[in-house]
Amino acid sequence: MSLETKLVVSSIALLAVVSAVIATATTLFLQDFLTDRLDVQVYSAAHRSTRTAGPSNQPPSAGEVSFLLTPGQAMETFGARVRQGVIRRAAVLTDPGSVQDVPAPPAVAAVTGEPMTVNLGPLGDYRMVGAPTRDGDTLVVGLPLTGMRTTLTRLIVVEAAVTLAGVALMAIACTLLVRRAVRPLGRLAATAARVSELPLATGDAVRLARVPDVDTDPRTEVGQVGGAFNRMLGHVETAFAVRHESETRLRQFIADASHELRTPLASIVGYAQLTGRSGEPHGPQTAHALGRIRSEAGRMTTLVEDLLLLARLDAGRPLDRLELDLSPLVVNAISDAYAAAPGHRWLVSLPDQPALVVGDADRLHQVVTNLLANARTHTPPGTTVTTTVLLAPGQVSVRVADNGPGIPPDVLPHVFGRFARGDGSRSRLAGGSGLGLAIVSAVAAAHDGRVEVTSEPGNTVFTLHLPALPAL
Ligand SMILES: Nc1ncnc2c1ncn2[C@@H]1O[C@H](COP(=O)(O)OP(=O)(O)OP(=O)(O)O)[C@@H](O)[C@H]1O
Ligand SMILES: [Mg+2]
Repeated sequence: MSLETKLVVSSIALLAVVSAVIATATTLFLQDFLTDRLDVQVYSAAHRSTRTAGPSNQPPSAGEVSFLLTPGQAMETFGARVRQGVIRRAAVLTDPGSVQDVPAPPAVAAVTGEPMTVNLGPLGDYRMVGAPTRDGDTLVVGLPLTGMRTTLTRLIVVEAAVTLAGVALMAIACTLLVRRAVRPLGRLAATAARVSELPLATGDAVRLARVPDVDTDPRTEVGQVGGAFNRMLGHVETAFAVRHESETRLRQFIADASHELRTPLASIVGYAQLTGRSGEPHGPQTAHALGRIRSEAGRMTTLVEDLLLLARLDAGRPLDRLELDLSPLVVNAISDAYAAAPGHRWLVSLPDQPALVVGDADRLHQVVTNLLANARTHTPPGTTVTTTVLLAPGQVSVRVADNGPGIPPDVLPHVFGRFARGDGSRSRLAGGSGLGLAIVSAVAAAHDGRVEVTSEPGNTVFTLHLPALPAL
C-alpha cells in the first residue's frame, strides 16, 4: 500500500470509529433519558387513575376502565383492571371520552409498581405500571413506546447520514492534503531515480541532479531528507571528481611514460642492429648478448606500444570510424599467423556477404591478431585454429576457436584483465606480457561491442561481437 493510501485509509477508519462511538453513546443516553421521562408520565397517569377510580360519573360503557377517561389522560393510554391476578377488562383511550377494548396478554396481569415493557400485539410495545386501588384491584396503566422509538430511529438515521457525509468529506480532504504533503517525497524519489540511472561506474566526473530548493527547507522533515540527500550528492560528486582527476593523471602519466620510452627504445634497437651489421668480428658471447638485447628491446617496444594504446583507449581518445569489411581483415591476420606458425592448422569460414562494421581498421586488425596470436602461442604445434566470421541481425561476430589445452581455470575469470597471464614460464618464453586480451576487450568496448570467452581443454572459443553497419 502506498503511504498516501495508508494515511488516508487510517484517518478515515479512525474518524469512522470515533463517529460510531459518539453516535452509539448519544443514542444510548437519549434512550435512557426518554425511557425515564416516559416512566414519569406513566407514573403520573397511574396516579391520576387511582384517584378517580371507583364509583364515578363516567359513561357506563367505560365500566371498569372508566379511569381512562380521567381528564388529563393522554390519547392512546392503555388501561386494565386486574382483580386477584385476572384481567377484568383492558382498553385504550381512542378519542377524548371513548375507550376501545383491546386484547391484553397475561403479562399485563403481572405488571407491578415497577415500570415494565409489555407487547400489545398490533398496538406495539407499551411501558406499563400497576397501581393498587382502595378496593383491592390493581389498575395497570401504560403509554406507547412508539413515539420514543420513532425519535430514536430518526436520530440513528441522522447520525448515520452525518457520519457518512463526514467520512466522505474527510476522504476527499485527507486525500488532497496527504497528496500535497507527499508530493515533495515524489520529487525526491524522482531525483534519486535520475541519479541512479547515471552510469557512475565509468569513472568519469559527473554532474549529479539535485533535489529542488523547495524541498530542502530544514524546518520540514522532507526538507531535512532533501537537504541531506543534496549534501550526499555533493560529496559523491566530489569523490567522483577526485577519482576522475587521479585516474586522468595516472593515465596521462602512463601515456607520457610510454611515449617517452619509445625514443630510447628505438635507439637501443637501432644501435643493436648497427652493431650486429658493422661487420666487426665478435665472439659468440657478444653475438648472443646482442641477440638478447634485440629480442628484449622488441618485447619492450610491444609492451610500451600496448600500454600507450590502452592509456589512449582509457582516455576515450577517438578512434577512426570508417566503414570496413571484416572478412579481408581476418584473412590478412590469418595469413600473418600462418607465416608465424606454419605448424598449426589454420581454418577459416567467411560469409557470402561482406561483414560490414564501422570502426578503426588498425585497431580491429590488432584485435584479431591478438586472438590469433594467443591461439598460436598458448597451444602446441598441430593445433587446429578455426576462425569464423558470422553475420546476425544487427551484429557481426568473429569467432576464434582452437583445440589446444585451454585457458587455466584460475586465469579464465580475469583473462581480460591487465597483465593477466597463465603459466608463467611458458608465457615468458612466448614473450607475452598479459596485455593482449585487455586490448581486445578495450577496443571492443570502444566500438560498442564486447568479447566473450569459453574455454575447456580441447575447446577454447573467443567471440568478438560488433554492431553491424546499420543497413540504410
Ligand atoms: N587460446 C588460448 N589457449 C590457451 N590459453 C590462452 C589462450 N588465449 C589466452 N590464454 C591465456 O590467457 C592469458 C592472457 O592472454 P593475453 O593475450 O592477455 O596475454 P598473453 O598472451 O600472455 O600476452 P600478450 O598477448 O600481451 O603478448 C595467456 O597468458 C594465456 O595463459
Ligand atoms: Mg596474447
